[in-house]
Amino acid sequence: MVLQKAKEYKKNRKPTEELKGKTFVMIFFNPSTRTRNSFAIAMIELGGFPLFFEAEKTWLGQQSESPKDTAKVLSRYAAGIGIRIFPNITKWKYGASNQLLQEIAKWSDVPLINLEDDLYHPCQALTDIFTIREKKKKLEGKKFLLSWAYHPKPLPVSVPNSTVLTMTRFGLDVTLLHPKGFELDSKILTMAKENAKESGGSFEIVNSLEEGYQDADIVYVKSWGSLKYYGSFKEEKQLRVPYRKIWICDENKMELTKKDSIFMHCLPIRRNIVATDGVIDGSHSVVYDQAENRLHVQKAILLKLLK
Ligand code: CP
Repeated sequence: MVLQKAKEYKKNRKPTEELKGKTFVMIFFNPSTRTRNSFAIAMIELGGFPLFFEAEKTWLGQQSESPKDTAKVLSRYAAGIGIRIFPNITKWKYGASNQLLQEIAKWSDVPLINLEDDLYHPCQALTDIFTIREKKKKLEGKKFLLSWAYHPKPLPVSVPNSTVLTMTRFGLDVTLLHPKGFELDSKILTMAKENAKESGGSFEIVNSLEEGYQDADIVYVKSWGSLKYYGSFKEEKQLRVPYRKIWICDENKMELTKKDSIFMHCLPIRRNIVATDGVIDGSHSVVYDQAENRLHVQKAILLKLLK
């Protein structure tokens, strides 16, 4: 229903009054360009009102107010709450920000939308499957590659977790590619395998770049930090640095994929580190469509939850 509605919103982008009189309050503990602006504009185009706060300007962000009190009070004002909170993984405990969201959801009397925490980025993943359906129509038998890439900082696993959990539900043949030491949470991998079985797709994990890219229909590139060294910056860096300049998505790797393959990234992307300019600006790339689609999907999510 959400994906269908998003398609309608994309086809006919005009202001409506479907959320007239409703306010969506967002709290951001981290920077954002796409999530913040697409949700804000989505609310405006639906006739509602977006409000956002930098977390440090809230008592919750200052750790001077409990998640319960914040949730209870905001529920009295707004029709929905959105929170982005993912950690600096060199300082946080794995899963801590997801726990905070769960605590707020427990006490909130209005829907809470996860705008990305340390475990999941559900709105991004929903947009990504929307974009894939838009580009590929039939998904059965299509090879979806999620490839790890080198990045100078260890990033959260929210996007890869949500990606494998979502893509395996849509009958795609999902290949997860990463160097040894960058395994995702075993619970997520078990769920992905179960999803693939149910949806009629498949799920495999490979460590060879050639094997991963070979004949891929959809290439999704993302970096994430090693869970093995979560919280240990030095050790994690030692593991990651040797992959610099090797684990980059470049034209040679894209040559191994199908002729009509698409290249995806959720953005922001470090150009010529995660993927080359040639790939990001090349004929396979759909990154700006993917970013645009955040708006249409966000509108459908807000309608479903706030109306
Ligand atoms: N992809 C994504 O969530 O982008 P922002 O961090 O800019 O919101």
